[in-house]
Amino acid sequence: MNNDEIIRLLNIDFVHELEAVMVYSYNSFIIEDCDVSRLTEAISVDEMRHMWWLADLIVKRGGKPTMEHRELDFSSEDLIGQLKLQIEKETEGINEYLRQIEIIDDEEVVGVLKHIIDEEKRHRKEFKERLEKLD
Ligand SMILES: [Fe+2]
Ligand SMILES: [Fe+2]
Repeated sequence: MNNDEIIRLLNIDFVHELEAVMVYSYNSFIIEDCDVSRLTEAISVDEMRHMWWLADLIVKRGGKPTMEHRELDFSSEDLIGQLKLQIEKETEGINEYLRQIEIIDDEEVVGVLKHIIDEEKRHRKEFKERLEKLD
């Protein structure tokens, strides 16, 4: 796989992380449940760390991280809706990372993506546990 294609894939990930940072930090401001709000805030910081790791890989390969995110969904007003949206974003990210580690042949990139997958799985588990308590 050529360098430009790797940069293109990493930028798909970078934008997902950027979107997660924005949605999670917004949700953490408006969620009233203290535990869920603090958890969402802490996870938004993890997502920002993922942005740093991805940006580092992109820049090292001569690319630039793209800040052009899709339209964001800030519409979930209740806690269940917010948690469901957050779980959906984690699953979307995990699926894309899993797809990419199968096709990218750059050891450094694959190592970072695998590490991120582990963290996204933990995030999803934490959000699911909070959602189950509410059902
Ligand atoms: Fe992430
Ligand atoms: Fe995550």
